[in-house]
Amino acid sequence: MTYGHTPVLLAEAITYLGVKEKRDGVWVDATLGLGGHSEAILKELNPEGRLISLDRDAESLALAKERLSGYKNFMAIKTEFSGIASALAQIGITQVDGVLYDYGVSSLHFDRAERGFSFAQEAPLDMRMDRESTLTAYDIVNSYRKEDLERVILKYGEDYKFRKIAYAIIKNRPIKTTTQLAEIIRKARSGGKPEKIHPATRVFQGIRIEVNAELKEIEESLGAAFKILKLGGRITAITFHSLEDRIVKRFFNYEATDCVCENKRMPCNCQHKAGLKVLTRKPVEAGEEEVRSNPRARSAKLRAAEKIGEAVVEK
Ligand SMILES: C[S@@+](CC[C@H](N)C(=O)[O-])C[C@H]1O[C@@H](n2cnc3c(N)ncnc32)[C@H](O)[C@@H]1O
Repeated sequence: MTYGHTPVLLAEAITYLGVKEKRDGVWVDATLGLGGHSEAILKELNPEGRLISLDRDAESLALAKERLSGYKNFMAIKTEFSGIASALAQIGITQVDGVLYDYGVSSLHFDRAERGFSFAQEAPLDMRMDRESTLTAYDIVNSYRKEDLERVILKYGEDYKFRKIAYAIIKNRPIKTTTQLAEIIRKARSGGKPEKIHPATRVFQGIRIEVNAELKEIEESLGAAFKILKLGGRITAITFHSLEDRIVKRFFNYEATDCVCENKRMPCNCQHKAGLKVLTRKPVEAGEEEVRSNPRARSAKLRAAEKIGEAVVEK
């Protein structure tokens, strides 16, 4: 069976996690997806090593479980990755050697039209990674107030025509399908400079981020992962747009700083001690060959950090 998602920066992720140096370690893939990165980790482990992989999408979990069913030291858990610590505690794990994140959606989400992530085919407005969660793209498009729609389009979609687009959406309610929405956005944005991407791409990204609370999830999970890392353990994160990358970069830099006092001229009273060492001063990006064979890799950025201390004393 082939799995329709090509993992990005695969070799780099394994190297920065340091799996080959701790083949008997306890590893977490917080974004299992279709299991590409997980499989590569499992191939490096010896029988004492363990991999626990998380995903909130039941469909991905089922496919990945089937793919990796031959590995006895593998376990998959359905959870949001912000719940990483409690999910692991439930199976008796309180410390880990490394956590991998490969954020965003997988090819499965786009390929399954009925999931409503893509405007390439007509489908209901959904976009939930976890189909048991309640908020859908339909709710946002058809019931958000103007100010909230504008916020989603600008803040998460980074589309500066947010006012025109929000106005057009409200005027055309009810909007039922992905293609209907894409057409309304296209018309609202018409007249500007031609762009390389489809005019609805950014708005769809913004709605998806809102539906899945993606940025809040990333922030909360990084903090939780840092706490359960062993000394010398690593976090490796692959991001696909600047909103994700900024959160990872800021988190790493903050935790890698001894003093986080706002006024550096005053004697330090924050008592913050660096708990991480950043391993990637600049993010690692895919080479030309990888981008050619997997266009998704074009925007990928990998950052990694190693735990060097426990002390995190907030002001
Ligand atoms: C880019 S895909 C991962 C692909 C995977 N590395 C592979 O090689 O197949 C991201 C996966 O993370 C999951 N995901 C995204 N945000 C999540 C969250 N907050 N909690 C749990 N899973 C999440 C998605 O459902 C998706 O399956």
